[in-house]
Amino acid sequence: MSQRTLSIIKPDGVAQGLIGEIYKRFADAGLKIIAARMLHLDDQQAREFYRVHCERPFYDDLVAYMTSGPIMVQVLEGVDAIDRNRELMGATNPADAARGTVRADFGESVERNVVHGSDGPGTAGEEIDFFFRRAELHPH
Ligand code: CMP
Repeated sequence: MSQRTLSIIKPDGVAQGLIGEIYKRFADAGLKIIAARMLHLDDQQAREFYRVHCERPFYDDLVAYMTSGPIMVQVLEGVDAIDRNRELMGATNPADAARGTVRADFGESVERNVVHGSDGPGTAGEEIDFFFRRAELHPH
């Protein structure tokens, strides 16, 4: 079933020059980019985006890190897009990520783990709406 998911290339991924490499992996996995934007989150936006983690001990560090540089945000569309993107990313902690995944190949730590991807259909819808208006989605 065709699905949409939100993907973020985090500040460490942009800084390492990985946008092209990661976009190639999306294409090879049959995931189409139907919206994309580079932006630099401010503190309020990062707190809002990661609000589900606000009670976690790593929340402030996560917000500081996600506001430390530009990010690339995209909506991916394809069959089982949510799980396919999660397979490409690998486990949250790069030390646990399967070989050949983005996080295993390029991640430094659980925080500097290169990419974010929605974890289910509910969060995918919410996260896409957080960054994009309907008219900014371009299925093709
Ligand atoms: P992400 O998929 O963006 O969702 C929440 C993020 O919190 C996660 O990736 C990690 O980068 C970050 N994070 C930082 N520290 C931790 C931790 N100890 N456990 C889980 N996630 C963490």
